Amino acid sequence: MIIDPRPEVAAMSPYTPGMSLSEARRDSGRQQMIKLASNESLWGPSPHALDAARQALDSISYYPMVQEPEFIQALAGRHGFSADQLTVGNGADEILRVVAAAYVRCGDEVIYPTPSFSAYRHSALLAGARPVAVDLASNGANDLDAMLRAITPRTRLVYLCSPNNPTGTAIAPEDWTRYLSAVPSSVLTVVDAAYDEFCQGERPAFAAAVRSGRPVVWVRTFSKLYGLAALRVGWAAAPAEVIRNLLRVREPFSVNSIGWAAARASLEDETYFSRVLQETLEARQFLVGQLDAMGLRRYRSEANFMTFAVPVADADVARQLRQHGFVVRPTSSFGLAGHIRVTVAPVPVLQAFLSALAAVLNQGMK
Ligand SMILES: Cc1ncc(COP(=O)(O)O)c(C=O)c1O
Repeated sequence: MIIDPRPEVAAMSPYTPGMSLSEARRDSGRQQMIKLASNESLWGPSPHALDAARQALDSISYYPMVQEPEFIQALAGRHGFSADQLTVGNGADEILRVVAAAYVRCGDEVIYPTPSFSAYRHSALLAGARPVAVDLASNGANDLDAMLRAITPRTRLVYLCSPNNPTGTAIAPEDWTRYLSAVPSSVLTVVDAAYDEFCQGERPAFAAAVRSGRPVVWVRTFSKLYGLAALRVGWAAAPAEVIRNLLRVREPFSVNSIGWAAARASLEDETYFSRVLQETLEARQFLVGQLDAMGLRRYRSEANFMTFAVPVADADVARQLRQHGFVVRPTSSFGLAGHIRVTVAPVPVLQAFLSALAAVLNQGMK
């Protein structure tokens, strides 16, 4: 070892991403592969966003804007915030980390759900905090009562994930209301709502909590419904004072000019995204019916993915599915063994996936 890293860094595991298409091609020896492993949009971005991104290439010799006022104004108008209640980040990922960097002191406690997205523990460790993991409720949602019980005078930050990755289960509105009435005002709550657009039914009033000045950061992304995962555009709403502190820590040019242009054009293409959303929800319903018919136990997902139990090792199922041309996510790396997470895709893709799954499971159970 040339020089030791910080002990917190030595204790971290690097992020485990869903397998990329090129890795999957190498691994399976097949050229034709469909990636259903990272909850990306199989419908792709809006054609207007692609045009805007191409045009933005003409000016890549200039630094991008730190905040793009027209985009922030459009986003604020759409969601009922003022511009000073919003910020953007290099994906939701950056915002999750920046909140901890701005607010967590060495030795503070940071509470987060488990199994869930790895960025919470990672951000807590990087900030020098003591990470406090709280198990999900049996339905796969964040257990807000257990999280409240875990709060101590040292707690500084609580990360929530709704819908939760990898279960897809959303926080119930009444659970959020109860949480908000009990959480101490000294605790900052970060709600990672990367999959919010896909929730049906009544949603918890996260945005209203921000508008009323509660210490809540509501984190969203253009990576999922909007199909811009590679461009890395996330955003967050929080009381203006919190946003000011996040801006002190954020990378100055964390959203590049191609990302700004594509995200802005996406906001203007409501027709395209309401169709994509409708088709995603219909495809999710189709997948639910088929998994139920196959007798595979699943979580009640409100996201653009579905996680179900398999009767054999999840990594083996994923490996065999690659031989059939599908990349999915075995969830052992989240701490949820024996499950597969699959992205909701257009129905014909799901039909082909389900045939492959049936073949793999029939073979595995013999
Ligand atoms: C719960 C959750 N939050 C955040 C992210 C990251 O989003 P972004 O691409 O905006 O960084 C993901 C990505 O899969 C996620 O599942």
